[in-house]
Amino acid sequence: MRKLIATFATAALLSSGVAMSAQQSSAVQADIDAFQNHFKGKFPNLTLDDFSKGPYAMSEDKMMQFENIMEMPPFEDLRDHGEELWNTPFANGKTYSSCFSGGVETIRTQFPRWNEKAGKFDTLENEINTCRVANGEKKMGTGKGKHAHITSYLTTAAEGQKINVIVPEGNAKALAAYNQGKTFFYAKRGQLNLSCANCHVDSAGQRIRGNTLSPALGHISHFPVWRGKWAKKKGDGFGTIQRRFGGCNKQVRAKPFKRHKSEYTNLEVFLTAMSNGMEISGTEYRE
Ligand code: HEC
Repeated sequence: MRKLIATFATAALLSSGVAMSAQQSSAVQADIDAFQNHFKGKFPNLTLDDFSKGPYAMSEDKMMQFENIMEMPPFEDLRDHGEELWNTPFANGKTYSSCFSGGVETIRTQFPRWNEKAGKFDTLENEINTCRVANGEKKMGTGKGKHAHITSYLTTAAEGQKINVIVPEGNAKALAAYNQGKTFFYAKRGQLNLSCANCHVDSAGQRIRGNTLSPALGHISHFPVWRGKWAKKKGDGFGTIQRRFGGCNKQVRAKPFKRHKSEYTNLEVFLTAMSNGMEISGTEYRE
């Protein structure tokens, strides 16, 4: 009888589609709830999606400046360039889309995604290079330039799609990778001995050296970003989330890690999961 009930239950799950995608780890779901509730409690006037506006959500003046800039974004041509690159065939005639499943608008929110075979999480940014190599092309430089243009196009195509990182329940290896990212986020480092959480959880909304500190909730909904600061340096202003991690490590005078290795990838997994349920807002401007 028990077996029969179990069979019925499985059939019900299958027909509702739930069994198709892995169930979220209950430990991770508890972290997400606690993380989001912290910010909702601290900033009761903001809706969940407001948090994606980072420092601009914290001040009306700043929000007006941001909205003005976003009316004619300085990065439009570069993002269009990303679309062109996405659709340009490799030497073998295939395009990037041959490496991905689902419509172009769904690709951003499929990542970071647990890869059972490889025993690690894949990020969208890294999959761009995996795709190139699989098609006989050389890897491209990561973090900025063309690499960021392509994923900026995908972020913009995904506007309104919901972030939904799954750390599969009962998968010890996936949970360990997530926990590595979580530990990284809360670990103090650098000469200033500060953690990501010290600035972006404990001090979110406060000012530091002329900047307003953004809340970590919603940190990734609009990446790659185009930054005025990056445009003044070498490059064209674009940067991916892992480029930004490097900048924030440098701020506390810690040595940045290499992009697309386990440290930053698992940090991206943790940080993205914390924003589960929020909408991708498309590529945005940042100071
Ligand atoms: C000394 C304080 C400090 C620490 C520590 C710090 N950051 Fe930052 N971070 C900033 C400042 C200042 C900015 C620019 C203003 C803003 O968006 O908060 C920023 C921006 C960011 C942004 C961009 C947000 C956006 O919407 O554009 C991300 C993402 C980020 N930090 C992640 C991290 C992570 C992850 C860590 C830990 C590795 C970290 N930061 C550590 C100060 C800090």
